[in-house]
Amino acid sequence: MAKNRQDDCIPAVHFFCIELVGIHLHYLWITQFQLDLDLCHTRPCCIQCIKFVVWRGWSVNLANQQALEQIVHGLNLDLAWEYAAGIQYAQHASLLRGAAYFAVAEELQEHSKDEFGHAIVLNELIQYLGGIPTTRVAPVAVSMDNNEMLRQDLQGEYDAIRRYLQRIHQLEAVGMYDSAQKIRDIVVTEQEHAIDLELALGIEKNLVPPTQLTF
Ligand SMILES: [Fe+2]
Ligand SMILES: [Fe+2]
Repeated sequence: MAKNRQDDCIPAVHFFCIELVGIHLHYLWITQFQLDLDLCHTRPCCIQCIKFVVWRGWSVNLANQQALEQIVHGLNLDLAWEYAAGIQYAQHASLLRGAAYFAVAEELQEHSKDEFGHAIVLNELIQYLGGIPTTRVAPVAVSMDNNEMLRQDLQGEYDAIRRYLQRIHQLEAVGMYDSAQKIRDIVVTEQEHAIDLELALGIEKNLVPPTQLTF
């Protein structure tokens, strides 16, 4: 049914043609992220076709490289904020005062451990993507007031959720669903942290009107 050829002369580019039901197809596999497919209008496959597909492939590859650099930059920002969140939670847990905050302080200690766990995941992911994990720490919010500390922590969670949803979008845009899943696991924990803090602060959200159900 088909003739199959792989061009080994072009580094990191794998090219092959398939003739299927009279239609000539070109496949180009450049990196683990990029698969390109073209219809060929000139049979049989010729050097011009190969040149066109390779040129197009390289231009797409360059765009992917830029996207990857942006993702690694974003993940390093996330990492710096995770370090800060871990430190901030540890300090706030020790500074909360009053019997009513005993359980909250224990919860914040757990959050602190979670944030450092997220930092480990981000370190691995950044290295996997070819980047160098940062050791910088984002600014830590400080207060001596119980409510203010919890509000600072909650704002940090909202910011983290927003950043991670953007990161998932960026990763999936280049087909890296496996890496996106790691971020998705992290952001689920951030959502749980946010819920804990909203409850501790007594925040009631009524953003959606009551649903009218009919049976
Ligand atoms: Fe986190
Ligand atoms: Fe968190």
